[in-house]
Amino acid sequence: MQDNSAVELGLANIQELLACPKCRGIFERNVDSLVCQACGSVFPILDGVPMLAVLDEAETKPFTHKGPTRESYQQEYQQLDAAAGYNLKYKQRILKRWSTQREFRLLYRLLSSQPRSRTLLELPCGGGRLSSAMAKFTDFLIEADVAMGQVQYSQQHSRVETAQIWMTASALHIPFRDAVVDGVVCIRLCHHLHKPEEREQLVVELLRVARRFVLITFFDYHSLKNIIRRVRQPLHRKRPKYTMTVDEIDNIARRHNARLEAYPQLSWIGSGHRYALLVKS
Ligand SMILES: C[S@@+](CC[C@H](N)C(=O)[O-])C[C@H]1O[C@@H](n2cnc3c(N)ncnc32)[C@H](O)[C@@H]1O
Ligand SMILES: [Zn+2]
Repeated sequence: MQDNSAVELGLANIQELLACPKCRGIFERNVDSLVCQACGSVFPILDGVPMLAVLDEAETKPFTHKGPTRESYQQEYQQLDAAAGYNLKYKQRILKRWSTQREFRLLYRLLSSQPRSRTLLELPCGGGRLSSAMAKFTDFLIEADVAMGQVQYSQQHSRVETAQIWMTASALHIPFRDAVVDGVVCIRLCHHLHKPEEREQLVVELLRVARRFVLITFFDYHSLKNIIRRVRQPLHRKRPKYTMTVDEIDNIARRHNARLEAYPQLSWIGSGHRYALLVKS
């Protein structure tokens, strides 16, 4: 649980920036909730965490998709023990630890190429695996995830010197007004969204709330990892990866007043992920 005065200070810092995730209306603050002045939705504040996540409902029409969906993935880490399992894997497995080290280096390189932020939104923050790599580049770090379990895990394990606040939020319906946070960092969510239009919606929504830049990872269709997977697909029948291309990201950026400034691979052989830095014009 967060110290009450820190929570109040954190909320006071960002209340002006928030908007209803359903209709973008402004909030009035009650003791233990935020109430939308436009649509009347009430969002509780539980243990200092504003619960602003709007979950997508599963489609009702006949649906043949076999892998995880946007909706099922939003449910995966709602409980603290499920979140703990995910985060411990990253701490214990050697390949995942190496991957995290490489991600720290990429975050350092890309974030230090931008002016220091006053507010940085990390969405999804997961259990806070990468938060300390971002904290030094901002005065205020907003940690958000759709899953309460991840938010709780992050609160317990990723405290940094920089002022922080936690909330639940969906990256597809971000509870902020347009262009009010300096930067948004979105690591390892895009490749969990199974429809191309959801992946585009994600990039557009991140660009909407960012004043200066967006840093997002995506699984590259043209990566060696994906080429091998596609070639072997008839044999092992694993579902195709949910991918994007550099050109697709570049096109979305251009249509939304931004440019793709860098898109380094996490690893050319061991991973299909790229980090893309989109800078607003
Ligand atoms: C693979 S984890 C990555 C977490 C963190 N960025 C990291 O790299 O350690 C993906 C996270 O996305 C969260 N998530 C799933 N759907 C989401 C959505 N629509 N909006 C925000 N977070 C979401 C999950 O709860 C999970 O914590
Ligand atoms: Zn509303």
